Amino acid sequence: MKEFEERFSELHGCRYGIGVVNGTVSLRIGLLAAGIRAGDEVIVPPYTFYSTASAVIESNAVPVFADIDLETFNLDPKAVEAAVTPRTRAIIAVHFAGQPADMDGLRAVARRHRLVLIEDAAHAHAALYKGRPAGSLGDMASFSFQSSKNLTSGEGGIITSNDDGLAEACRSIHNCGRIPTGLWYEHHVLAGNYRLGEFQAAVLNAQLTRLEAQTVTRDRSGRHLASMLSAIPGVHPQKRPGDCTRHSYHLFMLRLDGASFGAPRQAVIKALQAEGIHCSGGYAISLHQQPMFLNKSFGPYLEKVSRRLNYSRVHCPNSDRICREEGLWLEQSVFLGPKRDMEDIARAFAKVHDHAPALAAWARKQKRV
Ligand SMILES: Cc1ncc(COP(=O)(O)O)c(C=O)c1O
Repeated sequence: MKEFEERFSELHGCRYGIGVVNGTVSLRIGLLAAGIRAGDEVIVPPYTFYSTASAVIESNAVPVFADIDLETFNLDPKAVEAAVTPRTRAIIAVHFAGQPADMDGLRAVARRHRLVLIEDAAHAHAALYKGRPAGSLGDMASFSFQSSKNLTSGEGGIITSNDDGLAEACRSIHNCGRIPTGLWYEHHVLAGNYRLGEFQAAVLNAQLTRLEAQTVTRDRSGRHLASMLSAIPGVHPQKRPGDCTRHSYHLFMLRLDGASFGAPRQAVIKALQAEGIHCSGGYAISLHQQPMFLNKSFGPYLEKVSRRLNYSRVHCPNSDRICREEGLWLEQSVFLGPKRDMEDIARAFAKVHDHAPALAAWARKQKRV
């Protein structure tokens, strides 16, 4: 375990790494370690996995949604700034698909308002921002090793940080409230057992050796595919700002303009699948529009503040548009393939686009039946 924690955190530019059971609990531990208390607000994007927000609720804090940028799919610092209130204590920045968020912009907002900045790096193993590793770009970061991830042990996660106090608090919270100088049966804070197992650490250690090389391959493939797809009308791959030195391509994501293909996204996806391209529309619902938020089904959490919350009023049009109409995902394993695989994928998109009239007729027929 110790060896894995040290190797992973070093690769991600950090002095500390705390292996935990998954990338959900890691976010919650991070929030608790940062001193987030009942009723505090934490700004999160609406275009992300459930856990980015559920971990906030399970810390008894209020998730506040700020929209993403329509082109990069990452948190927009201007939207974050507009969402800050006197109750805001933290920001969770997701490096969506493996492309680092605008960390300079977000750090500036965090500094101005004295907020803790946490990276949700579940997608971003070995990604680089201005040459610096994801995981070292905020006060602390959370990674996931769940089975779909670029580095996996079936389930698992890690918290990385360069902050002595935060790392110490995370280590205690993940280990039943123990402290390094205390006895095994001495517990200092309310906590749980969230430790990653030694077997998982061994599996991760073996894979870690090849992570760097695999990430370089994925990045090269992703760049190549993005440049080919950009030439097809109506296909808008995730915009890559110059500060993304290395994208980990946990997902290759794009916006698809159905009008250019003569048919809605779902029909285009079906046609691509018929060409052998494994793809999906990704998240279908913005997080704030999930039944849990609309019905405020938060269990024992947020009882005191629930009355003032109304998630049906949240306005995040970019996230909604991508969820409902335009988002399209390809998964990371594809990007370990050779250059000709990328060319096959681009050819399939071009073929479907060239047959837009036939696709439109097929989609119309489907609507009638
Ligand atoms: C952005 C993001 N954050 C957090 C998580 C949660 O990680 P885990 O499944 O390890 O709990 C995921 C998992 O898919 C994720 O995609």
